Amino acid sequence: MHTPSRRQFIFKLASVSAVVGSGAVLSACGGSEEPVRFDYGVASGDPLADRIVLWTHAKHGGLLETSAPITLTWQVSHDAAFTQLVASGTVVSEAANGFTAKVDASGLSAGRSYFFRFRSGDSVSPVGQARTLPAQGATALRLAVFSCANYPAGYFHAYSEALKVQADYAVHLGDYIYEYPADGYASETAASMGRVVVPANECITLDDYRQRYAQYRSDPDLKQLHARLPMIAVWDDHEIANDAHLGGAENHTEGSEGRFADRVSAALKAYHEWMPIRTQGSDLKQIYRSFDFGGLAALHMLETRLVGREAQVTFGELLNPATAPAALARIASPTRQLMGAQQMQWLQGQLAASTATWQVLGQQTLMAEMAFPVSILSALNSTDTSAEAQQAAQQAITDYLTAKATAAQAPQLLTPQQQALLDPSLNPLLGYNLDAWDGYPAARETVLATAQALGKRLVVLAGDTHNAWHSELRRLDRSLVGHEFATPGVSSPGLEDYLAALPPAQVAQIFTGVIDTLKYADTHRRGFLLMQFTPQQVSGTWYLLDTVKSRTYQVFAAHTVSVNA
Ligand SMILES: [Fe+2]
Repeated sequence: MHTPSRRQFIFKLASVSAVVGSGAVLSACGGSEEPVRFDYGVASGDPLADRIVLWTHAKHGGLLETSAPITLTWQVSHDAAFTQLVASGTVVSEAANGFTAKVDASGLSAGRSYFFRFRSGDSVSPVGQARTLPAQGATALRLAVFSCANYPAGYFHAYSEALKVQADYAVHLGDYIYEYPADGYASETAASMGRVVVPANECITLDDYRQRYAQYRSDPDLKQLHARLPMIAVWDDHEIANDAHLGGAENHTEGSEGRFADRVSAALKAYHEWMPIRTQGSDLKQIYRSFDFGGLAALHMLETRLVGREAQVTFGELLNPATAPAALARIASPTRQLMGAQQMQWLQGQLAASTATWQVLGQQTLMAEMAFPVSILSALNSTDTSAEAQQAAQQAITDYLTAKATAAQAPQLLTPQQQALLDPSLNPLLGYNLDAWDGYPAARETVLATAQALGKRLVVLAGDTHNAWHSELRRLDRSLVGHEFATPGVSSPGLEDYLAALPPAQVAQIFTGVIDTLKYADTHRRGFLLMQFTPQQVSGTWYLLDTVKSRTYQVFAAHTVSVNA
């Protein structure tokens, strides 16, 4: 008979307690505690040099699902095994916040990568990676820039592809969700892709918006992105309702859909619950804020929807002779607001105070001019989709481009009709999207004049259009102030949907031909924008996808624009 030695016995006991300690035994048999589920992974955001916001969603799961609050322990570590803890604490996930939990983890070192996770008893969240902002003297920065992710419109390949280009941080310029119902905008192929939205109705209440965020955050590509890169985000309109402004939205009907103010409150509460944004104070609208990337770049994130935006002017108003003069006067008003006076003052102060090499605006809609002559706009704006109408639109474009080319090469050959086409008093130039800065020229001129007067190198990031653009930013006197890089949508359809009859290369040619300040356009592919900053240069590379409608796809660096300091 073999008798185990005391040493062997202690060894066996230690092995048993190690197994119990790992949670494997308790999890397998259910244990005394109900397990906690982390169904939406983890996220980080709003990094500063010494802190970062950490996020998760935690709920009791299993047989005894309960809505009781859960006290989570959060941990930040130098290593993925969490043997070198840097910071930790507790945070509560509860019904009042839709079972999301956010913590501002501080006491971190500048320019460092960390691992983080949440746990409750033996239940542990996936491990996330986060990165603080660099200390002064930074010489390189890579930002992956996104906008317009529409769940029913396609797969979110752009989000996971951005992890392959060594980006340091993610910037989201809005339309992170869309509010539409299951049979709404861009949902034609949703069922075949298994991407029909929940709830099926349009998002109006807090519970609606929460369900919509939960669905988006169940997307595997978005989950990966959030687990790996800190995100700096602002909303655009669809986090609330299409074409939102200070007092309402195109897609909100006061009364039958409740009060707009209540809808805004619900939408913003859900946004702050689900996004890894540093929520400060009780005014949830106040999200404009700045980030300094070690003196290399200052990123000023703007709010252009709810704190100051006057209502958009519509083409209906402009095309009706009875309302056109007043509509034009509204657009041209020197006091017309997009950001509101208070935010504008704040931005001017931030630009003046920052000594960073590059001053970057992270914001929603195109700031650059996208002005078309009325002769083309009125031909394109027709609801008539007949062959004759398309022919007329093509003719209007050809006539204008021919006149422009003649003016450049042999002005003496211009006919009176061509001279009239090129005369802005007879054929005025008008932005084709009056929801963008083109509908708020005074606000744009103030931003550009400020940057110019301060001698800043201005880079503007924009989303909203679902297409890729690079434009010069010029003041009314045509002086060059900066450059705008516009990211295509993650999945929302672009101009190929509206101008289906024209080959995309021709659409891009028309845009760059008509608009002098527009230098690059891709109007039919989705993707993301990688911005790289050094003290000498800023460059933007558009990574575009051949499709968002299939699980298999190709991605390629389609175009790069570099600007020297
Ligand atoms: Fe969008």
